[in-house]
Amino acid sequence: MAAILAACSSDRPSTTPTSHAPTTVGADPSKPWWLQGNFGPVAQEIEAFDLEVLGALPPELSGLYVRNGSNPPRKNSSHWFFGDGMVHGVQLANGKAESYRNRYVHTSMYDSNADFGDSVPGKGANQANVSVVWHGNRLLTSGEVGFPHEIAATDLSTIGVHDFEGKLTTAFTAHPKIDPATGKMHFFGYGFTPPFLTYHVADSNGSLVHSEVVEIPNSTMIHDFAITEHDVIFWDLPVLFDLASAIKWIEEPESGVFPYKWDPSAGARVGVMPLGGPATRIQWFDIDPCYAFHGVNAFRRGPDVVLDICRLSSMFDSNDVLAGDLSLRRWTMNTASNTFSDEVIVEGPESGELPSRDPRRTGREHRYGYFVGTRDNPNTVEFGGLIKHDYSNDRREVWDPGPTKHANEWTFVPSIDNDTSDDAGWLICYVHDESTSKSELVVLDATNIKGGPVAQVPLPQRVPYGFHGTWVPSRSGGS
Ligand SMILES: [Fe+2]
Repeated sequence: MAAILAACSSDRPSTTPTSHAPTTVGADPSKPWWLQGNFGPVAQEIEAFDLEVLGALPPELSGLYVRNGSNPPRKNSSHWFFGDGMVHGVQLANGKAESYRNRYVHTSMYDSNADFGDSVPGKGANQANVSVVWHGNRLLTSGEVGFPHEIAATDLSTIGVHDFEGKLTTAFTAHPKIDPATGKMHFFGYGFTPPFLTYHVADSNGSLVHSEVVEIPNSTMIHDFAITEHDVIFWDLPVLFDLASAIKWIEEPESGVFPYKWDPSAGARVGVMPLGGPATRIQWFDIDPCYAFHGVNAFRRGPDVVLDICRLSSMFDSNDVLAGDLSLRRWTMNTASNTFSDEVIVEGPESGELPSRDPRRTGREHRYGYFVGTRDNPNTVEFGGLIKHDYSNDRREVWDPGPTKHANEWTFVPSIDNDTSDDAGWLICYVHDESTSKSELVVLDATNIKGGPVAQVPLPQRVPYGFHGTWVPSRSGGS
């Protein structure tokens, strides 16, 4: 996401390697890049059945792959982040691709033709466009700055705002974490006004059972967090909500101003608190100013809490053309000695972003992390295929789909044949071909990504580059 978000901070062309101006963007200078090429919206909501399959879909891969993103329908959206949420789903079953459909999330903003910034975002007022999560037999979208919206796994229709029976009082992160041992969903919300950070737990049935404020000094943009078997980890980094910028952004959306600013004087820190609370026992570790959208995973090893993370040297800094330098890091917080260590794993745009992992390893030591790759380009960085990073030796394997094809976030679907080895499963993503303007669903065997796709499902319309997706297994009742 960092490369994506980096690009989102400006519509200026960039030559920095952390930018993400796509190859087809810029053809029409009268329009922002996020309305062009495959960043641009699709006009139709469609459904199609009995799709062609190239190769062989694993029969065990039965369920719904669904991914969210911005799809501004009517206006010149002021930012790639601020389009109305549209989900794209493909239903797989017993080796067949049964259907594809795309649907807007019918938020109040979508239904009233409102743009982000027309009113103060929060609660039900959000665009439900960042991610989608399956928990408690519900499929929830997140717009990050408000309540989730529930959608139907059967046909992606919108059921409505989900506020956990009125118990949720804050926003709902785009990156909740489901503990594989308990089925509990741990999540948080950050606020423009106090409380700036609130931690929540929903039980395995989806009932909100715990909420408490985590005290932090500023309104910072906190996109993701992590858990271990015993801990919750927050990164409170110096990208601060800026009211003056927010006002300018609302009044002059074409200005490209973003309502958050880089302010390293605010300091940076990582907090480790007990899983389930209380937040009063949080242990803070001061670190050098930086920013991170996404963690890969975290785990505890004795007194050490280990967090793998995609780090940016800065974000929304006016001195940056777009963003600071990207690197893959391993942060270790020793809770006994209160010391912090920062290990550089990979530096540069080739580090990869939009990380994913086997969900059975969430909060447990992982051998692998999966990232969308990037490509060398004298003018920009393009998303490419897939990086499989082996944390046991820091070696990586790459699947490159070819020079004109671009992937997004990969979703790991565990094998269901009781093979619990570290990479037993499948990796799924929408891949777009800029040369044909067509998209396909691609499935890779995680144990053999160099072998290329085991199956490709050409789709009846292109799928714009988006944000985050998930897998809803059929056996869970999702379809
Ligand atoms: Fe994200």
